[in-house]
Amino acid sequence: MAIQILENVALAPMTTMRVGGDARFFARVGGIEELSEAVLWAQRKGLPIFILGGGANTLVSQDGFVGLVIKIEMKGISYDGNRVTVEAGEWWDDVVCDIVAHDLWGVENLSLIPGTVGGAVVQNIGAYGAEICNTIFSVEALDIEKMQIKTFLQAKCEFGYRESIFKKNKNLVVLRVTLELKNDGVPNTEYEDVKKYFENKNIEAPSLQEIREAIVAIRTAKMPAPPLGTAGSFFKNPVVDMTTYETLKKEFPEIKAYMQGDNTVKLSAAWLIDHVGGWRGYRKGDAGVHEKQALILVNYGNASAEEMLSLAHEIKNNIKEKTNVTLEEEVVML
Ligand code: EPU
Repeated sequence: MAIQILENVALAPMTTMRVGGDARFFARVGGIEELSEAVLWAQRKGLPIFILGGGANTLVSQDGFVGLVIKIEMKGISYDGNRVTVEAGEWWDDVVCDIVAHDLWGVENLSLIPGTVGGAVVQNIGAYGAEICNTIFSVEALDIEKMQIKTFLQAKCEFGYRESIFKKNKNLVVLRVTLELKNDGVPNTEYEDVKKYFENKNIEAPSLQEIREAIVAIRTAKMPAPPLGTAGSFFKNPVVDMTTYETLKKEFPEIKAYMQGDNTVKLSAAWLIDHVGGWRGYRKGDAGVHEKQALILVNYGNASAEEMLSLAHEIKNNIKEKTNVTLEEEVVML
């Protein structure tokens, strides 16, 4: 066998959250053949499979994983006009940096998001008024049940808020993505923090590079990069109907919310956790809530997975009790 299957490998150092136990079996794959080999090996043994990218959005339990963890390490980036094809194992922000250097618009607002390209697609990453799905042309994935490579055009990827067909269907492993970018894009500076940044600098029509610099500055002002001890936003921003929103608005007039155009409203989970729950800056042992961003739970050093999860539960229960809104985890639990 060409690939190496390792045993009892610590997963905590492979995630940004830095908690959790071991993978019973573990393999790194740098190409489709190695990936297929690893999958077939696990299938023959009847073991469950978990696909790991950059570990930037994963919380590993204290018990670890009883099956085979496959770490995606396919690399490569190639340009064809305004289309760029990137392998799933590339680090997302290296790709953004490269695309901006090629003078192509579309992903600059997604600068500095930790994780790999595969994870970015599965999760449909979004920030500062942009989502990766808006630049995706197609995604190539391996269906590990049928052992077939499939190409999904953007419209077939079932993208939603932090949602995709690749997240719903665990048999699909993202191999590579083709992004369609713009040669002469328009700056996307509507997001509050971005608008303020350019107003303060008196810049009316920022360049592509200036937007990347702005996003990097805004993100690093909130937290260091890479954000060790966190998995980014721990919860999703909950989407509620208009009536629920109006009721909440009476009790919490300052509530932060974004109209969705389909009679639903996306509430700021950070605002609820911060202003309704009063959790921002809270700390119990090494598990805490970020001082500058209440949606980010932090392992300050030696917190266990249980401690992080118990903090998350406490927050969820508290917000449910006070608002009747259920927060849903954004991080993937392993
Ligand atoms: N706010 C508070 N208290 C806080 C933090 C924020 O009241 O502690 C309020 C502020 O009024 C702020 C608003 O909440 O204007 C929104 O905060 P922020 O701009 O930080 O964005 P977010 O909704 O909390 C989302 C994404 C982030 C993404 C940012 C920036 C989700 C779950 N999170 O966070 O994505 O970087 O917008 O666009 O949608 C991630 O998914 O892991 C992630 C980091």
